[in-house]
Amino acid sequence: MTVDETHEPVLRAENLTKIYRMGEVEVVALKGVNFAVQRGEFVAIMGASGSGKSTLLHLLGGLDNPSQGEVYFAGQALSKLNDDQLTILRRQKIGFIFQFYNLLPTLNAVENVALPLMIDGQRLSQYQTKVNELLHLVKLGGRENHRPDQLSGGQQQRVAIARAFVNQPEVVLADEPTGNLDSRSGRAILELLQRVCKELCTTIVMVTHDPKAASYADRVVFLKDGEIVNQISSQNGSVPIEQIMSIMAELET
Ligand SMILES: Nc1ncnc2c1ncn2[C@@H]1O[C@H](COP(=O)(O)OP(=O)(O)O)[C@@H](O)[C@H]1O
Ligand SMILES: [Mg+2]
Repeated sequence: MTVDETHEPVLRAENLTKIYRMGEVEVVALKGVNFAVQRGEFVAIMGASGSGKSTLLHLLGGLDNPSQGEVYFAGQALSKLNDDQLTILRRQKIGFIFQFYNLLPTLNAVENVALPLMIDGQRLSQYQTKVNELLHLVKLGGRENHRPDQLSGGQQQRVAIARAFVNQPEVVLADEPTGNLDSRSGRAILELLQRVCKELCTTIVMVTHDPKAASYADRVVFLKDGEIVNQISSQNGSVPIEQIMSIMAELET
């Protein structure tokens, strides 16, 4: 790669546009979004339901193609990659966390966390230690052999977080990771993401419609009708919730 990676943001969206076509109907989900994320940053994307948050996250992770514009991952234009290259990039450099955990019901915690490595062709003996370390990091030591149905929602999401970090991704993309949890479990997940982001120097982009969740980020970006309309940065380690709420209230008017 000829791109100078040192100053290049880890993620950059350029004029990102997404139009969903359903027969005669067109939905413009993103309208020319320009946006960059620096290495190690924890960014929250906020906006009302339907504002384009998930669409933006999917495009950033190469899960879907933009109608116009480009996503650059460490300077590499995703549209220039073929399907195999894109699959490898997603598998090795990006971790995904979803609202409904997406764990495999028949696998225990260790196996669920190890799944991305198994798919990548690595042997269990090689990564056993790493998987166990991660399960401890997310405070699930002692739950190694539990299947998803033997874990609470918060515990399942912590398994999903360990899984997202297991291949030491450069970027973790999380779509409403606390959307399905009670507030106490949600808080634990957010503290965990914040801590792991710093300890493992991983970049996190988290979509949420919850001001409290967004306040854990270094920076909050606001979407309205497919456009970035505002952003605020943290002060002393968190973004003031009142400020987030007042911007959200403004957006709703
Ligand atoms: N697969 C799809 N097909 C058609 N329209 C879609 C699809 N996904 C999302 N949309 C529409 O695009 C807009 C943005 O959706 P989305 O990105 O899911 O918003 P958010 O995550 O902020 O709720 C919405 O109007 C939604 O209905
Ligand atoms: Mg969404």
